Amino acid sequence: MHHRVVIGISGASGAAYSVRLLKLLAEAGVECHVAVTALGRRMLFEELEIKKANPEALVGGDLAGRVVIHGDNDFGALIASGTFQHDGMIIVPCSSNTLNSIASGLTNTLVQRAAAVSLKERRKLIIAHRESPLSEIDIQSMAKLNQAGAIIAPLSPGFYMLPKTVEDIVDFMAGRLMDQLGYDHDLPVRWTGSVNTEA
Ligand SMILES: Cc1cc2nc3c(=O)[nH]c(=O)nc-3n(C[C@H](O)[C@H](O)[C@H](O)COP(=O)(O)O)c2cc1C
Repeated sequence: MHHRVVIGISGASGAAYSVRLLKLLAEAGVECHVAVTALGRRMLFEELEIKKANPEALVGGDLAGRVVIHGDNDFGALIASGTFQHDGMIIVPCSSNTLNSIASGLTNTLVQRAAAVSLKERRKLIIAHRESPLSEIDIQSMAKLNQAGAIIAPLSPGFYMLPKTVEDIVDFMAGRLMDQLGYDHDLPVRWTGSVNTEA
């Protein structure tokens, strides 16, 4: 393990998931390399009132040293190269535009380029997509990326841990994404079983 991940933030709804996951990763001592698309920046503002996607605004001053932000048009960034080693890349939230672009082999943003590199280098690529309903194109792109080795992990939180707040729902999904990346966390995401005498 390199204890280093690439995080792509694109312009789908669910900016809170990306910020929560970033904090969890930084708290776990993981070096986070982040690229945010133009619409991703807009969603950070629309949904969380984050005006500038810098490390302090995303994870707070204490953890800022663990976060590196790369310009989304900077194709000379470290994460654009296959030589940059990491434990995996996650795109959260992943828009349909970014999903379909990656499935088509396009690299028009740094998020897309880093994803294409992760696929060619056979590194873990997690697509935390958010859109509903799905088009035939979206479904075909998911199938194609799944065949190419990516993990399709829709932002679809479960409710069996009985969430009380929006934060609980975000925590559940962020915890499951930590599971996919292979890092430990203490969030309550694990079903411990129950006995249903009616069933
Ligand atoms: C308020 C708002 C909410 C949006 N929500 C979604 C969404 O949930 N899923 C999605 O695929 N696109 C969504 N979009 C559309 C994308 O932002 C748009 O397709 C954009 O081109 C994505 O660019 P990107 O993939 O480079 O971030 C939303 C746009 C806006 C302005």
